[in-house]
Amino acid sequence: MTPPQSPIAPFELERYFARHEFVTQFLLCSSDIEGLTLRELLTLADDDMRERWESLTLGYTESPGHPLLRHAIASLYTTLHDDDVIVTNSGEEPIYIAMRLLLRPGDHMIVTWPGYQSHYEIARSIGAHVTLLPLHPRNGRWMIDLDELRAAVRPNTRVLLTSFPHNPTGALPTHNEWRAIAQLVETHGLRWISDEVYRGLEIVVADQLQAAADISPRALSIGAMSKTYAMAGARIGWSATQDAHLREQFLIYKDYTTICSSAPSEILATIALRAGDAVVARSRAIIDVNLALATQFFATHTEHFEYIPPAAGSIAFPRLRHSDADEFSAALLRTHNTLLLPASAFGYPQPHFRIGFGRPNFAQALAQLEDFLTV
Ligand SMILES: Cc1ncc(COP(=O)(O)O)c(C=O)c1O
Repeated sequence: MTPPQSPIAPFELERYFARHEFVTQFLLCSSDIEGLTLRELLTLADDDMRERWESLTLGYTESPGHPLLRHAIASLYTTLHDDDVIVTNSGEEPIYIAMRLLLRPGDHMIVTWPGYQSHYEIARSIGAHVTLLPLHPRNGRWMIDLDELRAAVRPNTRVLLTSFPHNPTGALPTHNEWRAIAQLVETHGLRWISDEVYRGLEIVVADQLQAAADISPRALSIGAMSKTYAMAGARIGWSATQDAHLREQFLIYKDYTTICSSAPSEILATIALRAGDAVVARSRAIIDVNLALATQFFATHTEHFEYIPPAAGSIAFPRLRHSDADEFSAALLRTHNTLLLPASAFGYPQPHFRIGFGRPNFAQALAQLEDFLTV
């Protein structure tokens, strides 16, 4: 008997983390921020939320999400209402559902690349044609080429998926570039999936972009508690869109994925968002310290690396000048118990690797890399 074949290609990055994340001493490539402890988070709770936490019953929850959580999420946007938000289980779930809703076999989709594999693999598994739109390292920043984007649009293009702040490069468009992308969506009548799970981690606060869902009725913005809010283990995310029909369809689909979110996680996420300034300040403080160390490290080792610091987010994508990224990462792991993520996990054929700035032991992890270079 032939063994069953998955109708979708393996998620290389997630398989890589599944192999290494929980057995490696120094994680130098994580994209999330060191998770909040429950104790830390609960000290941030107001009286109302503390009472809700302590008296919580572990039953089913409302499918679109707890009303207080939807309200807290809607407050992150400038024009959206509570009803525009649907709470999901993680940032992954809305990517999956949006693709299932918006793409049919034979449709065409454009997606920023390198990127999170679900951004294009789900589309391929549906039978859609995918154009991977590369980000280029030019003039000290990573960015897509807007002319390449315009040229990629076909008569059957249904969806543009952008992912900014960008994983893995830390790229962020300028406000003008972002407006140009929104304009293109409008001109061609596309649907716009905007993965914004690192929003709030811009290095310069004024660089933060308006959420796609705020500026376009054709957009669906995806958010999550996993990165900016340091709660990856809560598995809470959301979709936000002005489009009422799309929200209705989204809920129909959600009945077949997770029905509703985890009751404890919804309360914890509401606590974190109500105390959003403090939680984000904690994440930014961890990143700031580590970015300064990285800047110094890469300035000292220009013979080995080309480094473009992130404009936003918790990660960057340096290039190795003389080594193969798979071999380099494997050797570092073997000799120094330290994890980097080679570009091959993104299907990216250049000698880059992802480095992550979200861990408090970054200095020790970087010291391992330093030692590796000298032996
Ligand atoms: C761009 C992007 N989108 C979505 C996700 C998934 O987020 P979550 O962990 O909340 O499912 C990730 C996780 O790494 C990501 O980098």
